[in-house]
Amino acid sequence: MKRTLGVCYYPEHWPEDQWASDAAQMVATGLTWVRIGEFGWSRMEPAPGTFTWDWLDRAIDVLGNAGLKIILGTPTATPPRWMVDKHPDMLAVDAEGRTRKFGSRRHYDFSHLGYREECKRIARLMGERYGKNPHIAAWQIDNEYDCHDTTLSYSQAARAGFQDWLAQKYQSPDALNRAWGNVFWSMEYDDFDQIDLPNLTVTEPNHPHQLAFRRYSSDQVVAFNKVQADELRTHTHAPLIHNYMGRITTFDHWKVGAALDIASWDSYPIGFLSDRLEGTPAFKQAFLRQGHPDNQAFHHDLYRAVGKGRMWVMEQQPGPVNWAPYNPAPLPGMARLWAWEAFAHGAETVCYFRWRQAPFAQEQMHAGLLRPDSAPAPALAEARQVADEIEALSDVGTAQAQAALVFDYESAWAWDAQPQGADFEMFRLAFAAYCALRRTGLNIDILPPETSDLSGYKLVMAPGAMKLSDPLKQALATFEGIALVGPRTDTKTEELSMPNPLGPNLPGTDITVSLTESMPPDDAITLEDGGRFVHWFEHLEGHADVIAQTASGQPAIMGTKNLRYLAGWPDGATFDQIIRGACAELDLEAKALPEGLRIRDTGTHRFVFNYANHAQDWRGTTIPAAGVHWEAL
Ligand code: GAL
Repeated sequence: MKRTLGVCYYPEHWPEDQWASDAAQMVATGLTWVRIGEFGWSRMEPAPGTFTWDWLDRAIDVLGNAGLKIILGTPTATPPRWMVDKHPDMLAVDAEGRTRKFGSRRHYDFSHLGYREECKRIARLMGERYGKNPHIAAWQIDNEYDCHDTTLSYSQAARAGFQDWLAQKYQSPDALNRAWGNVFWSMEYDDFDQIDLPNLTVTEPNHPHQLAFRRYSSDQVVAFNKVQADELRTHTHAPLIHNYMGRITTFDHWKVGAALDIASWDSYPIGFLSDRLEGTPAFKQAFLRQGHPDNQAFHHDLYRAVGKGRMWVMEQQPGPVNWAPYNPAPLPGMARLWAWEAFAHGAETVCYFRWRQAPFAQEQMHAGLLRPDSAPAPALAEARQVADEIEALSDVGTAQAQAALVFDYESAWAWDAQPQGADFEMFRLAFAAYCALRRTGLNIDILPPETSDLSGYKLVMAPGAMKLSDPLKQALATFEGIALVGPRTDTKTEELSMPNPLGPNLPGTDITVSLTESMPPDDAITLEDGGRFVHWFEHLEGHADVIAQTASGQPAIMGTKNLRYLAGWPDGATFDQIIRGACAELDLEAKALPEGLRIRDTGTHRFVFNYANHAQDWRGTTIPAAGVHWEAL
């Protein structure tokens, strides 16, 4: 499939007489797609029931007639001011009980059914008006669920919805009391109406109470999305998309994705490195203008799976952003590298955010492809270069992965509720495993927790999955490669209590976690071969083989030829060593890629990306800083 480029555009921000020249310049840059509309509600419906579609009709005509394909967004991330007057209780409430006010965006509560109805209505009206429009080739529903921490709300609407959800799930307060262990500290309820949201308690709320609220909150995002998806489906055959974010675990993306055709995500590598990823100061300095060399790949692989094979980058950073603590400019070449890396990981389309930098409002310091004065910004030429390169490289093929990583959102909620060690976080653990796999140069697939088919993979990892699903257990029982689960895998019940017999309950191997320790950042458990477990260590017992041990002779990895339990959280070098050892057993080539050099094999090509700020050698080829190299396979 030929890959395409696009851009995010806001016709409502610019004089109408500029639209045609903007469109012509987009086409001249080699762009195929333009995304519009997702924040335009106050201009579509300036007063309740009063519609001004004419500008949007004309914008669609101008952009479409110029030859661009349009992604039309539903504007539900930005309810206009009148909406708040109409539904004063639609605003979300934070965990401290403070209302989150109007004046930016995403000021809605996923539990508010009145607002959900308004979203269904605007989706219906847009579907009726534009669903058959030949220029509208895709739809985006809402914008970045959970952006600005908006999945969880502690409002009255959430409280009522949660109580109803609990009543349906548990049927009787007694069943809930038993499931949650509410006898502990006399927390028993007589009625679902008594159950509050798990905030503002004296000390931590009961873990299953927190987990139930996280499940409930995720379900609201799933339902909110589905209402719009179902409505749009009745009016259009164009694919439905949402633009997810990086490192967001507050809702189950697998479930949201089930109602959509394509998973897209918004990639801001430099903002992320400074704001949202762990790393030593030296590492962050080395990648200041390039981003973490594995973060983009992780999310491409994750969302390719969430999208059931179809993935886009809906927003690609073009220059400095405005929202991170520090906002350096990318190294020349990065706007090209990020796009090619996305394509190599299966992205069909990469859209840069945004066309022209806005001279006003919150994001006026955020770069675009054009400066606010319409002169080209540095990324414009790189987009043009990618467009030319796509013409020359019409098919980059799809990839076969040797390794797989199971990623489960429920486990993220479980460990948020019960971290047990301040550094234990699901994303962090999964990402550490992913980075180690990637440093060996393997292709990686990310899999949902209900996966039942592991054929085709040689190495499978499932760190931190609180409870392995039955289908996955069955697949593991007959797996012929090496599966490495743990730490903290299959050690809890659905309700976040301890199973009896104690976990993990792995097919065909007798292993029990008898005691769990977490450690402060400067402490570690030393392994016999010099490796280290950091953050977390589980004492294992049972009759399985001890495959590796600690310096003091405790099991570090235990299991069988095919299914092994990792007792701790390895540091980077130890993860590398463990994965390399497994690759050697499997006869899989494990490369030792230098820092910043990453590869991805597709069906047709090997791509090599140099995230480093200096040139590096790849088997005799010098790849400049921020350079991309590909060779036919
Ligand atoms: C994204 C968002 C865009 C824009 C962008 C700025 O999170 O979807 O609307 O705000 O960030 O980097």
